Amino acid sequence: MLKEMSWNILCDYARGRHSRSQIVNACKYFLGKKQSVVSWKPIYLTAFTTYRCNLSCDMCLTHSRKHGNVHGQKPCKDMTYETFKQILNKYREALIITLTGNGEPLLNKDFFRMAEYASKVMNMYVFSATNGTLTGQYQEQLVNSYLDQLSISVNAHNPKEYKRLTGMSEEYFDLICKNTKELVKRRNNTKNTKLKLWISYILDKTNYVYLSEMVDFARELHVDGLQFLHFLPNQKDGFRAEERCLFSDDKSVIEQFSRTRNTRTNIKIVFPRLLKKSMFNGSERFKYCRVPFYNLTIDSEGNVGGCGCQLLDNSKNGKFHEPNAWNNDYFQQFRNRFIKADLDLLEPCTWCHNNLPTKASSFLTLVKNLFQKKRTLLTANDNTL
Ligand SMILES: C[S@@+](CC[C@H](N)C(=O)[O-])C[C@H]1O[C@@H](n2cnc3c(N)ncnc32)[C@H](O)[C@@H]1O
Ligand code: SF4
Ligand code: SF4
Repeated sequence: MLKEMSWNILCDYARGRHSRSQIVNACKYFLGKKQSVVSWKPIYLTAFTTYRCNLSCDMCLTHSRKHGNVHGQKPCKDMTYETFKQILNKYREALIITLTGNGEPLLNKDFFRMAEYASKVMNMYVFSATNGTLTGQYQEQLVNSYLDQLSISVNAHNPKEYKRLTGMSEEYFDLICKNTKELVKRRNNTKNTKLKLWISYILDKTNYVYLSEMVDFARELHVDGLQFLHFLPNQKDGFRAEERCLFSDDKSVIEQFSRTRNTRTNIKIVFPRLLKKSMFNGSERFKYCRVPFYNLTIDSEGNVGGCGCQLLDNSKNGKFHEPNAWNNDYFQQFRNRFIKADLDLLEPCTWCHNNLPTKASSFLTLVKNLFQKKRTLLTANDNTL
């Protein structure tokens, strides 16, 4: 994601959007190596602004009534504006901040002040995700806010599918869609707003057959972009990877993806990388994730974590204000799991889509393997002489 944004970052720097220290920091990261102690500061901040939520979606990693809080993340109070400012002042070289939650971010009373501080004072891009139920109350503030991008978790393309996926009533789906349409209209009628509006759907084994309907529905909502998210599984019945996740050896999934990729559309679409069966049976051990090398997650009690994707328990990793928090023992051990072949990954990382090889890394591995094969052949030939 950071690589895709690099051109925008440079253009915005030329327009005076970022500070020199932010750009120098990003360059150190892009030119740097994956090491347990890194020479750059965090590039990306994930701020858990609230744990509270007005919904309890079945698939949610923290609020589900079906399986509870699967990774044992500890509930926290809402983040205060003071704590938020301290975090940003300490990590001022970061370029991007996500105001997110293990709950609904719009429930934090200081949400808009936080976005303003991050953008106006700290020159950061500000992203957030919302369940879309409350945006109707905040239309005016949202379109005039300092947010760069808001992603609305529509989650499905019709009320029945929404209920199947989230367990929440179909009326919520109607409310979310009504709110989204109104917000887009308001945004389009507002001058000088920079807010980009995206929606997200969670893909699983049942709904991937509706990919083109989902794209059509995003078009009806007139949003700027749509992101298909992986279903994040857990060990409970009905939520296991083999029951819900999409894999790269499923021809029908690949066909659906390529058909949808070839559809002409004026909205941006982000597809997930498909999981590999080998991740689950242990026959391949991937170590491609770069998230703990650039991301710092912080909750309202100041606890830090390296992962911004799965809602892991961060309560014992250290506090953001500690002098060496970004390279502390926790971070060194966590990063080493992605560097050293003999160290095991944490369980959620073993099947995480962020840990899959990218196209570029697959190409590099192919070249490396070919090179090694050639060397082995040459050595074998040498031995026969
Ligand atoms: C944890 S929510 C927090 C923000 C807000 N409450 C919301 O729902 O958008 C962030 C994103 O995670 C997604 N999500 C929740 N559980 C998921 C799961 N099991 N698999 C994939 N995405 C999930 C939600 O749909 C949402 O887009
Ligand atoms: S709205 Fe978001 S945080 Fe709330 S239960 Fe649903 S996925 Fe979880
Ligand atoms: S592999 Fe996934 S779960 Fe593990 S650190 Fe990376 S993003 Fe987080």
